Amino acid sequence: MQNLTDVLASSAVPETLQTVLTVTTETCIAISDALKQGSLAGILGMAGNENVQGEEQKKLDVISNDMLKDALLACPAVRAIASEEEDYIVPANTDGEYLIAFDPLDGSSNIDINAMVGTIFSIYHQTGDQPATEADFLIPGKEQVAAGYVLYGPSTMLVLTTGNGVNMFTYDPTQGTFVLTHENIRVAQETQEFAINMSNQRFWSANMQNYVNDLVKGKDGQRGKNFNMRWVAAMVGDVHRILCRGGIFIYPWDNKDPSKAGKLRLMYEANPMAMLLEQAGGKAHTHTQRILDIQPEAIHQRVAVILGAANEVDTCLSYS
Ligand code: F6P
Ligand code: MN
Repeated sequence: MQNLTDVLASSAVPETLQTVLTVTTETCIAISDALKQGSLAGILGMAGNENVQGEEQKKLDVISNDMLKDALLACPAVRAIASEEEDYIVPANTDGEYLIAFDPLDGSSNIDINAMVGTIFSIYHQTGDQPATEADFLIPGKEQVAAGYVLYGPSTMLVLTTGNGVNMFTYDPTQGTFVLTHENIRVAQETQEFAINMSNQRFWSANMQNYVNDLVKGKDGQRGKNFNMRWVAAMVGDVHRILCRGGIFIYPWDNKDPSKAGKLRLMYEANPMAMLLEQAGGKAHTHTQRILDIQPEAIHQRVAVILGAANEVDTCLSYS
């Protein structure tokens, strides 16, 4: 079986990007090891607390951020990073060629219940003779040269696109490497499974309420078929399920805080997942446009997300 290094080496991916992907994914293996230690390592809990030894405890999302930040800043091919855990972008090497935006630990409320979490990353090619600034990161998602995530579940899996389909790799601890286990993933156009946080129903737009009401009515409503529902509470887990067995995932705009366009972040959640979904034959939209076409205005910008089976995304959008 091929491992990640073989797959990258036999692809058209430039060597510099191969290096960035290797550094990112090897750091994720170290994050996976830290997660396995859990409370044994004395690192669960809130940042700012002290553990029994009187040392300051760090939350695992802070630890994961520091690990990725240190590894990527030390990589000469990296021009700058942006992270959910960093208020501002961090310039690395002016001569570097890649900008990397990441969510170091997506779904971190799952950590304390020992459930699925993951690292999501988005990579752009960019060169310049000045240190990178936030403005340099404001590139539409369709320009990403690579995107993916590492899922920390019963097994640790890497799901990756470099713009030529989607491959899944499973971490093999006996070899210390990711092994290609699922090649050229395709998402079926139709589905009977949806994922949305139903507790927010009363805050959604009327159109979204009508759409989800019709899903729930199943065979007795105008859809004429029954739907199942799942919610992992970590986008990375819900997207992984959709890539494995289809479905639609929605985190819509809601009027709990009308000033927010949505809950999820464009640069390191919506864009990389949208690239994966499109590369697998699915779709990813906000209520009004294709996610990958959005011109970003800020690195921590939020967007509504409707992604998954192409025909179901179209049906959802047809309610607006
Ligand atoms: O990163 C934000 C996030 O944790 C996503 O991973 C997840 O899909 C969502 O928030 C969960 O939201 P809620 O708390 O509404 O279930
Ligand atoms: Mn997240």
